Amino acid sequence: MENGSHEVHLNLNVRGLPVSATLDINETSNRLISEGKQIYKLGLGQSPFPVPETVVRELQANAHQKDYLPVKGLPVLCEAVANYYRRTQNLPIQKNHVLIGPGSKELMFILQLVYYGDLVIPTPSWVSYAPQAHIIGRHVQWLKTEEENNWLLTPEELERLCKPDPSRPRIVILNYPNNPTGCSYPVDQLQALAEVARRYHVILLSDEIYGELNYAGNHQSIARYYPEGTIIASGLSKWAGAGGWRLGTFAFPEELKWLQEAMAVVASETFTATSAPIQYAAVKAFQGGPGLEKYLSHSRRILKSLSEWIWTRLTDSGVTVARPDGAFYMLPDFEGLRDRFQSRNINTGEELCRQLLQDAGVAILPGSSFGRPANELTARLAFVDFDGAKALAAAEQVPGDKPLDETFLRTNCERVLIAIDELCNWI
Ligand SMILES: Cc1ncc(COP(=O)(O)O)c(C=O)c1O
Repeated sequence: MENGSHEVHLNLNVRGLPVSATLDINETSNRLISEGKQIYKLGLGQSPFPVPETVVRELQANAHQKDYLPVKGLPVLCEAVANYYRRTQNLPIQKNHVLIGPGSKELMFILQLVYYGDLVIPTPSWVSYAPQAHIIGRHVQWLKTEEENNWLLTPEELERLCKPDPSRPRIVILNYPNNPTGCSYPVDQLQALAEVARRYHVILLSDEIYGELNYAGNHQSIARYYPEGTIIASGLSKWAGAGGWRLGTFAFPEELKWLQEAMAVVASETFTATSAPIQYAAVKAFQGGPGLEKYLSHSRRILKSLSEWIWTRLTDSGVTVARPDGAFYMLPDFEGLRDRFQSRNINTGEELCRQLLQDAGVAILPGSSFGRPANELTARLAFVDFDGAKALAAAEQVPGDKPLDETFLRTNCERVLIAIDELCNWI
């Protein structure tokens, strides 16, 4: 390959790979905004809420922390994370079972690097799991889901994959509440999935980064039902609004300590340790307490009301969409309107998103970025284009037993509502 007069020899697993779709849409949206266009940014999945004040103060107080920290993480933070799982999930996680990294994404990459086996992911899934496997050279197995089942993996489907080659090493990623659908698993389905996972000794990577944003505040980890084979991934990015701080956590069972140790070796030769001030500040977030509970309960309340308003508006416009249980995503399916789109020369999710951005200034991502078929008319919207600090302050003024109605949403999440109105008018 030539680039000007220089020869370019990229790793063949990287050659031709595009930049992550979510980051790409963000850059495109910013470019259009700088050209003076009105753009509603429902593309990048970034929390609209500010980092809780107590956590910010802790970061300020620890700005002077300058030493390299232990590879696996600051011991008090590992203890706080372990306590968090004992407190919220009743899991016997110890502090030496925790690994801290610069984002859970980085930890997932290192996990795939050190483990030798297939990566198994349901479709739809978050944008980065499959490209990471591709970069490392791992085999990816996609598992079918059905829209009627809220796009959730069924135990039968997992069984169907595992049965013909029962001893094959596999990592299965479950992510709930889910990006891109917002849906979460009922407890009985988690139990049934855990049973299949145990039967075939698969390693479950339970991506629970949106767990605290379960609208009902009752997120349950599958690790309760398959503790010996489950790694729980989380971090500060989504429920503490601190994506740019880059702090992720993995919690391992004793049985998977060998994976944690191998990951720590790679960490020691790559990122060394996660940023010291950020780790000190994260202790506050994982310790929880009344201030954080209040922050979370209002965040959930706002996201729930917003998701219900959007769901109703889209459904009334003839779009099929699963009702989210948490997080800030939805995966609308426009297949019911295919005839209408065909006459406008729109036949794929990507064409739909491109035309929508051009005509109505609404940025969303095609389902194909999440492993859906390219010709399918699905897309993910992230309802995050609003000022989370303003919305939180306003929600605190509305008594807890009162719903946050349309007037509240029009005042505090205006851009999201306008974007959805624009989308519905456009279709
Ligand atoms: C499902 C899911 N998992 C993991 C991540 C990575 O988060 P981070 O690397 O910021 O911890 C994201 C971020 O968008 C996500 O949506």
